[in-house]
Amino acid sequence: MNKTLSVSAIQNGTVIDHITSDQTLRIIHMLRLLDRKHTVTVGFNLPSKRMKLKDLIKIENHVLTNQEANEITVFAPEATINIIKNFEVVQKIITSLPPSIGGLFICPNPICVTHAEPVKSFFTVQEQGKHVQLICHYCEKTFDRNQVRVKAL
Ligand code: CTP
Ligand code: ZN
Repeated sequence: MNKTLSVSAIQNGTVIDHITSDQTLRIIHMLRLLDRKHTVTVGFNLPSKRMKLKDLIKIENHVLTNQEANEITVFAPEATINIIKNFEVVQKIITSLPPSIGGLFICPNPICVTHAEPVKSFFTVQEQGKHVQLICHYCEKTFDRNQVRVKAL
């Protein structure tokens, strides 16, 4: 690799590249990277050929699951996810919008039964033109992706 990197290359792990602005902190939170004590480096507003500016997240010694990679596309559809082994990109994960997301978000509806009962939240993911919406399985209400918050551990 002869190009200069704004954020150091990693030996092993996952690089989430081409993240659209405003979504990076949410993705860090969503993947619970800080709770899991992973070594994470982040670049904000880096110049990109493909996008005006991009963000990226590098997670050392951890490979994301396919479900985690797909969950990222709800918030950053243009993100590219690379698995690194011995400083080389060994895989570029092909992502697709996940059909559903369970246990991760809190339902924004204050009277949803999920707030009163010890049940895992469950949302169906739906693409509405350029927008991604989440439909709560319990109260059947539809929310914009930016309305949902990640559940605290
Ligand atoms: N990367 C890294 N550590 C490595 C190798 C790669 O952090 N040891 C990062 C690169 O900086 C880049 C991403 O992983 O952000 C993907 O690497 P590569 O495929 O080499 O970059 P591009 O050719 O720019 O990829 P793309 O096709 O996604 O544009
Ligand atoms: Zn609900």
